[in-house]
Amino acid sequence: MEFLFKKSSLVPSKELKKIARRLFPYRNQISEIIKNKNWFANEASLNLPDDQDILTIVEKTVNKKVTKDLKYLINIGIGGSNLGTKAIYDALFGFFDPLEPDRYPKIIFADTNNPNKLAKIKKIISQKIKSATEILINIVSKSGETTETIANFEILIKPLFNRFPSINDRVVVTTGKNSPLWREAKKKGIDCLPIPKKVGGRYSVFSAVGLFPLAAVGINIKKLRQGALKARRESTQKDYLKDPALISAIITYYHYQKNKNINNTFFFAGELESLGKWYRQLMGESLGKTDCYGHKNCLVGITPIVSIGSTDLHSVGQLYLGGPKDKITTFVAVKNNNHDQRIGQRFFNRLVPIIKGKKLSTIMDSILKGTKTAYKKQKLPFMEVFLKENNESALGEYLQFKMIEMMYLAKLLNVNAFNQPHVELYKKETRKILQGTK
Ligand code: PA5
Repeated sequence: MEFLFKKSSLVPSKELKKIARRLFPYRNQISEIIKNKNWFANEASLNLPDDQDILTIVEKTVNKKVTKDLKYLINIGIGGSNLGTKAIYDALFGFFDPLEPDRYPKIIFADTNNPNKLAKIKKIISQKIKSATEILINIVSKSGETTETIANFEILIKPLFNRFPSINDRVVVTTGKNSPLWREAKKKGIDCLPIPKKVGGRYSVFSAVGLFPLAAVGINIKKLRQGALKARRESTQKDYLKDPALISAIITYYHYQKNKNINNTFFFAGELESLGKWYRQLMGESLGKTDCYGHKNCLVGITPIVSIGSTDLHSVGQLYLGGPKDKITTFVAVKNNNHDQRIGQRFFNRLVPIIKGKKLSTIMDSILKGTKTAYKKQKLPFMEVFLKENNESALGEYLQFKMIEMMYLAKLLNVNAFNQPHVELYKKETRKILQGTK
């Protein structure tokens, strides 16, 4: 991964170094947590990428459950129990699923309670699933009692239970050890994978939450972990100026102080959109809260948005370039593409003559460069990330880089990156309403 910022971030290097000094003690703390494999720290998720026990149990479960004729893995979970897995699956396969109907196995994600989607999943189950070995149901919930998740499972297991009495063997549960779901699943003889206690949803992609379903559909989780380890190494090596997570956090913080409170991740690869949605949760839930000093009116938060190039230049480009200067942007692009193609010009050769004989990658690179030049002209700050390829190791590196960045950002903003006290507010109200209705 290449991370560029010097010519475009609009942060004076003196300021950058000043803010970096504030983070040095925390940077050391992070290194210690990794060195000592401290599973009790809030940052325990940093120990996931090289944890052997997790890899072993995931691989064992994959070997036990994944059959040659597996067609669908239905992944039931929401928020942190779903977004990381979906980010990686969509980047590698999911974005193309509608165009590759015959490629199996596929993951179907069931997060919220959408009756139309659930009806269509049930139709697939009744029409395409001929034997229980063709399906796996994967329930993911750290707490083990999330309303939407349990509701979706009840709906989807019913038609399977009617047809395949031993369907319990085709269910895997990933949850906190001894959660209510863990206990119920164990009673029914369902295989359970644990989520470490201190690993919260949005930091859990390298636990069984992400590793099991991804490995089950053939994604190379060892490479994913290797990528994460690379990002972790960069965040623990000596030269902090080569630590993308630290620098990105500082730049974001610097501009937040100057009222740029919108964070735009601008992907020039449509298949990475779900990665942006994963980041939206990471940033939204980690930073959006009252600061740790409890100052009554000190509500902190940066609003994450996701854009896709070049599609969104034709929709919100005007706003970004001509509207309020309230955003810090990170452009993310993939360097190498195995499916590059040249454009002929047989039909409409006079319409856009500048594209004749050019590669698709040349067009996209030019649009990206043009956009960046326009940003510079408008004095809009940005950072750049280049993934070498769209593959497991690049995605693992990106995810880990962003999780560490978020820990630094939370430290600078004086918030706890790992809780989400206000999510409970709506959950409580929902439970009250449901209790009073039929
Ligand atoms: O990041 C989080 O903590 C949340 O988004 C949770 O993942 C989400 O609410 C689902 O919770 P659970 O995994 O307990 O079902």
